[in-house]
Amino acid sequence: MATKFSVPRGTSDVLPKDAFKWEYVEKVFRQVAKNFGYQEIITPIFEYAEVFERSVGDATDIIQKEMYRFSDKKDRVFALRPEGTAPVMRSFIENNLGKDGNIVKLFYIGPMFRYDRPQAGRSRQFSQYGLECLGTSHPYYDAETIAVYYTYLKALGLKNYDVEVNTIGCPDCSVAHNKALQEYFKGFFDGLCPDCQSRLEKNPKRLLDCKVEKCLQFHPSAPSMLDYLDEKCKTHFDQVLKYLDILNVTYVVNPKIVRGLDYYTQTAFEFVNHNLGSQNALGGGGRYDGLVQQMGGKDTPGVGFAGGISRLLLSLEQEGLYQGENPHPKYYIVSLGEDLAQKAIELLTFLRNNNVYAEFDLAKTTLKAQMKNADRLQAEHCIILGEDEIKSGMLTLKNMTTGEQTTLPIEKVNELINL
Ligand code: HAM
Repeated sequence: MATKFSVPRGTSDVLPKDAFKWEYVEKVFRQVAKNFGYQEIITPIFEYAEVFERSVGDATDIIQKEMYRFSDKKDRVFALRPEGTAPVMRSFIENNLGKDGNIVKLFYIGPMFRYDRPQAGRSRQFSQYGLECLGTSHPYYDAETIAVYYTYLKALGLKNYDVEVNTIGCPDCSVAHNKALQEYFKGFFDGLCPDCQSRLEKNPKRLLDCKVEKCLQFHPSAPSMLDYLDEKCKTHFDQVLKYLDILNVTYVVNPKIVRGLDYYTQTAFEFVNHNLGSQNALGGGGRYDGLVQQMGGKDTPGVGFAGGISRLLLSLEQEGLYQGENPHPKYYIVSLGEDLAQKAIELLTFLRNNNVYAEFDLAKTTLKAQMKNADRLQAEHCIILGEDEIKSGMLTLKNMTTGEQTTLPIEKVNELINL
């Protein structure tokens, strides 16, 4: 017997019983993003590896451990995209999208890839919805970006989550904070996990993000970024919070948020569902004012976020919320006898050509089997097409909810379209 194949570890099929849920959350995201003035951008699934290496940061887990890197037949080095921001920046620069100096708002939905240990809420291929607002450093836009996400989750009906906001300052005020963190954690060096020990020199902020039990005990007294902000960063953060209030977003300030990517400056935020277990971030984002320039473009400030679709669906499930549904046929055609198959096919074709979901099953020959199938598919109406109907020139229409039967002259089938 031939070997059966299975999906690669850390990936999964989205079967028809779930695919409509994806369609639903994507549809609502597209709508909300458009309401806030965002336009969709679709970038390739793979990019030159350098696109990520130069943006996400050499010392991050994503670049060091998680990126799917490969070379093609001409030895060019590519990576399956681990996130969506760097590709959007690459495209923004390459296509000169900021040329007229206006704010550019872009959203995206699509698969990302990270080689990580799979667990609930974490996979090697996952889909993100995300957006980027480019061309302004005004603090209103940090708040508006958070408000888009907030409005999205509200539109889905989600309640069990917190909006956690922080500032990680600019590179200048980070110098003093990083120094303070290094001094503080050095005092506990032997008690830190190996990851924290190796990050202490290059990326001390990331220690605040460590989830390892023995490291957590050192976090409460660690130096807080909020005490190291310069005047400009402090004012910016105060303004962001002010605009969040005006936008009616409920939030908490969490000075421990540092984010796992190096391009952030100032505002950093996460939407956290504390019922999701260890992978509890529905999504996150922040400001990244140096990124476009770092990637070879003109100095262009930006702010954005991304969230994972599977964690969102898990959250909707937990709260028993609507997740969309597969459509049901408007008409199921019950045709009795081989001679009537042609008539049934003609009627089916007419309805489908007029954008109506109609179905039948030629393999089911009895009335009982066909009605049962109509029930299984939850058809709204059955159209019964038998010898009698053809003779009298009338169709029998059965409403499957009320059981009521009516007739319709065959020449008036047009009326079925808008019934
Ligand atoms: P991130 O925090 O790395 O940020 O990812 C955003 C979200 O993607 C996470 O909060 C989570 O919901 C989902 N996610 C990440 N990794 C996985 C995984 N292995 N399995 C399932 N879901 C996952 C970014 O990617 C930034 N590009 C966000 C951003 C946009 N910042 C500014 N603009």
